[in-house]
Amino acid sequence: MTIIIFGATGDLTHRKLLPALYENFRKGRLDDVQAVVGYARRDWTDDAFVERAREGLEQFASAPIDEDVWRRFAGLLSYHRGNLDEGDDYRRLAARLEELEAGAAARVGGGAGVAGAAAGRLYYLATAPRFYAPACRNLGAAGMAEESRGPRRVVIEKPFGYDVESAAELDAEVHKAFDEHQVFRIDHYLGKETAQNILFMRFANTIFEPVWNRRYVSNVQITVAESVDVGHRAGYYDQAGVLRDMFQNHLLQLLALTAMEPPASLDADDIRNEKVKVFGAIKPPALSNTVRAQYDGYLDAEGVAPDSTTPTYAALKLHVNTWRWQGVPFYLRSGKALAEKTSEITVRFQEPPGILFDLPSCDGYTPNTVSMCVQPDEGTHLKYQVKTPDAGNASRTVDMSFHYRDGFPETPLPDAYERLLLDAIRGDASLFARSDGIRGAWRIIDPVIKGWEQAGRDGGSVRETPDGGGGVAPQVERYAPGSWGPKAADELLAHSGHRWQMGCFHGHS
Ligand code: BG6
Repeated sequence: MTIIIFGATGDLTHRKLLPALYENFRKGRLDDVQAVVGYARRDWTDDAFVERAREGLEQFASAPIDEDVWRRFAGLLSYHRGNLDEGDDYRRLAARLEELEAGAAARVGGGAGVAGAAAGRLYYLATAPRFYAPACRNLGAAGMAEESRGPRRVVIEKPFGYDVESAAELDAEVHKAFDEHQVFRIDHYLGKETAQNILFMRFANTIFEPVWNRRYVSNVQITVAESVDVGHRAGYYDQAGVLRDMFQNHLLQLLALTAMEPPASLDADDIRNEKVKVFGAIKPPALSNTVRAQYDGYLDAEGVAPDSTTPTYAALKLHVNTWRWQGVPFYLRSGKALAEKTSEITVRFQEPPGILFDLPSCDGYTPNTVSMCVQPDEGTHLKYQVKTPDAGNASRTVDMSFHYRDGFPETPLPDAYERLLLDAIRGDASLFARSDGIRGAWRIIDPVIKGWEQAGRDGGSVRETPDGGGGVAPQVERYAPGSWGPKAADELLAHSGHRWQMGCFHGHS
């Protein structure tokens, strides 16, 4: 297997991809990888690429560098200069790859290099999104997607498209060169151990699944809060906004894992079939069930339009219209410049009949909740009531918790890219989004974005969106950096008698 990283001089390669490859190599999982070729426009040498990789590892690898491992890893690295939109450069790359592959075949076979040796390739597009289509086109035109000599896989970073239409166009371009089984659309949230734990929690136990439905669940809340602001990414962010940046991908993937039916197996297509069904059961929300907001000071960031209405925070109320979930609101929220960085899913159960105990009057009463903490304090929490000792019939809500850091002190949680890269190398697509999943997620989010934009253009509210979102568009609220977002997000829940509750993060409810 040869790994080719397009966009090799960029941030993602430096901070995530090379450290993740190194970690896998260190753990002895890359025995089949014979070369890692960096491809980019800059005039770098092999040595410059290796040196930069070393710097990245020093900063971002999870453990101090082992010099012996590093020497062997560095021996795999090389750099190839080329443009992403020039067909001839890809043909030159193909020739270089064939040389490398022939050399590797000779080493293994102990003979002379064989032209056309069998070898797999993984093309990783760590480039700006505008190059995804040209890169696929050029790989196809250079015969580099064709699989007669081994698998040819392409990993495509997010964002996959800008809206429903552009995602479909990109998909069509990708499919001109690659079949769906060759395409790995990455969503790094799916590589987080604790996102994967959602399926284990639900389906490797028997006690949760019987109550994981509309008969017992009052509402589900998914919070992905970030304390950082848009920083140096304002140019990109101002075009994207929080719905494209976080909801279309990460939050909806977490929702799908929480709401899906048990898959027939852990095979990629069985898992992805179930997720697609979840997306298919969600209608775009009425705009009155959406909140958008921008933090104070956003407009001063370099790269942000002076009159930008781009939301840096959003909250949505969605419904999954299935037998399991009908009538149960799924509240999703995410934003930048919030009080804390924390991602969690809280399933809030209904209250018991108030016959025996007057629970709501109890000190700090919280109905049963199961919270799955994706980060930073990875683990799970269950809140339930106990009798307060020596206090008549008073009760108190207590917390039964599990933290990965206590349960597995000897195993630090790997970075999401480590797992995802390994899966892509091995050809396991279960943690990657499929074409219809991407489409399904855009179908939910795009009408909201378009409804908000239309309200902005018309200088007021919209009553209908073409895809049936409808409702009155909310105004762009403001919130103070370091807060928990706008009041309107609390009101969104209060209308149904609910409130945001966080089981993992104790400083805030
Ligand atoms: C990325 C978004 O996909 O996810 C960023 O583009 C965001 O804006 C990041 O900061 C959050 O990822 P994590 O792993 O830090 O929660």
